Amino acid sequence: MQTVQQHIIERQRQEHPEASGEFSWLLSGIILATKVIADQVRTAGLNNLLGDTGQVNVQGEVVQKLDDLANETILACLGFRDTVGIMVSEEDDEPHIIKEFDGRAKYIVLFDPLDGSSNIDVNVSIGTIFSILQNREGVDSSKVMDHILQPGYRQVAAGYVIYSSSTVMAYTTGDGVHMFTLDPTIGAFRLSQEAITMPAQRKMYSVNEAYRSQFPQGVQDYLDWTKTDEAGYSLRYIGSLVADFHRTLLRGGVFLYPPTKKAPEGKLRLLYEANPLAFIAEQAGGAATDGRQRILDKVPTALHERTPLIVGSKEEVERVASFWKPE
Ligand code: AHG
Ligand code: MN
Ligand code: MN
Repeated sequence: MQTVQQHIIERQRQEHPEASGEFSWLLSGIILATKVIADQVRTAGLNNLLGDTGQVNVQGEVVQKLDDLANETILACLGFRDTVGIMVSEEDDEPHIIKEFDGRAKYIVLFDPLDGSSNIDVNVSIGTIFSILQNREGVDSSKVMDHILQPGYRQVAAGYVIYSSSTVMAYTTGDGVHMFTLDPTIGAFRLSQEAITMPAQRKMYSVNEAYRSQFPQGVQDYLDWTKTDEAGYSLRYIGSLVADFHRTLLRGGVFLYPPTKKAPEGKLRLLYEANPLAFIAEQAGGAATDGRQRILDKVPTALHERTPLIVGSKEEVERVASFWKPE
């Protein structure tokens, strides 16, 4: 039996002997938070935790009670970890400045505390997504946005937890993608799959086709092609990015959230949804673009900026690109 903490320490010892355990201490804070959230999600219906708070967040979305609770849980579990300098949450307008960067506090944690909010009350899989950056050497701590708005290829780690029939965590630190299942009898995430590779192709696409008429013409052409006899694709769309991504990581296919007239830059957020999942996809041999460029090459200009997202099996992402070449 190998727990995720043991796995992280083991890999750190092998791959990054210079690491002083600060990183694994930080990740253990995230692991603790997601165990608490898993329990809150599982019993939400019994503790009056379903439904919304009546508040609207910076995204312009109604905040669900569990969004709020998951957000507070992560802030509390990570807030006193002395290796964290800044935290950025989908739910909060501004970054949380925990402490000045110093020899120990060098990490920036960006997260979507609960992804798939529209599915919470109907007991469909939801999740938590996180991305970890290091502060930029030689840049003063006060230049907060300079430290946060780094391109995705600078991530030192990324991961997600999906709260579903079982609670599963996937993470990468740049040495492959590893997956763990929460064992409720001992309250620990145990290794279930190491060095996951995404199938290079699969005839499955995942998109909210209700918005089809708003998509760029090239995307509509791709969607027409998938329905031809020669193509023979099937469609799966759960409406929780983490769940649609998790299926794509394990079984292959392609997930698309293209630009729409309502959301010309796409709906999904670059810093704490697209970047972490793009890092994981590439580490598993897949690909992630915004239709024009690699997600991980995008230089962010705003905390909550949105991006179109095409992510999945390399061949499937390339096939979408063969139909849709944004001008
Ligand atoms: P969040 O709940 O964190 O706001 O994210 C919801 C996102 C993502 O999970 C999913 O892929 C997408 O919203 C679904 O959007 P549509 O309902 O427009 O298809
Ligand atoms: Mn989300
Ligand atoms: Mn969310």
